[in-house]
Amino acid sequence: KDITIIGVPLDLGAGRRGVDMGPSAIRYANVKDRLEKSGYHVLDLGNLNVPTPETYKIENQKLKYLKEVTAINKILAEQVSKIMQKGRFPLVLGGDHSIAIGTIAGVSKHKKNLGVIWFDAHGDINTPETSPSGNIHGMPLAVSLGEGHPDLTQILNFSPKIKSENIVLIGARDLDKGERNFIKERGIRVYTMHEIDRLGMAQVVEEAIYYVTKNTDGVHLSLDLDGLDPNDAPGVGTPVTGGITYREGHLAMEMIAEANILISAEFVEVNPILDERNKTAHIAVGLMASALGEKLL
Ligand code: ARG
Ligand code: MN
Ligand code: MN
Ligand code: MN
Repeated sequence: KDITIIGVPLDLGAGRRGVDMGPSAIRYANVKDRLEKSGYHVLDLGNLNVPTPETYKIENQKLKYLKEVTAINKILAEQVSKIMQKGRFPLVLGGDHSIAIGTIAGVSKHKKNLGVIWFDAHGDINTPETSPSGNIHGMPLAVSLGEGHPDLTQILNFSPKIKSENIVLIGARDLDKGERNFIKERGIRVYTMHEIDRLGMAQVVEEAIYYVTKNTDGVHLSLDLDGLDPNDAPGVGTPVTGGITYREGHLAMEMIAEANILISAEFVEVNPILDERNKTAHIAVGLMASALGEKLL
């Protein structure tokens, strides 16, 4: 299978600068070479042209940089859709997690029932009404499910992009009150750190794979590096203690690769400013390689 990489150096969806440098850090960690070693043909399209926060002002405190985040996600959605159309595997490098709005829009345009595995410390399932921050990177899952500002939900002119019963969250340990209500109302499957501790990552991922493949025609992996423990992945914008270990992360990716279910993926929220010698970007590349089938033997 052929992979197309696209970088989205966006941090307007986050409350803190730095994840705009994520795509550079990930490329510096040799993502292309690493995937080519597994036998892929990899084409890197470079970065989308993203506005700098200093040149814009926040208009709406409940939806910070809505216009700019919408514009970039529209472009991303179209690009991802084109990559899908060519039968290639889109690999999107973030950037803050708001870019999942565009990636999922572009992928789901080609899939009636897209499954999603969402690795994250957070739910990212806020609406403008429930968000404590107004940061759009806390909203992409809600948007993809059809909830939120219409400029965002209507990207590519259809909504919702995905169904509640086709998604699974893994690694959650920081959910806002409104997010908990949303998850309960919709009966969304979540494996919090509690379930990971209790069942072990192997069982969690086995169940998750079964769940997201039951009624779907392809699975998208959206991996927020803050799902990992900050000891292993310190270079993220919103670290939360008590996360997934390096080993557990790799095991999860290797099981996903073995199941051969992925049609697209994105790796987001790498913040090189807060990182230690590009450690988090290296981990991101290792996880990508494992998710895409890299093997030791
Ligand atoms: N729940 C918080 C918020 O809505 C934090 C979201 C963090 N999201 C992320 N993609 N890192 O602001
Ligand atoms: Mn997160
Ligand atoms: Mn996230
Ligand atoms: Mn591995």
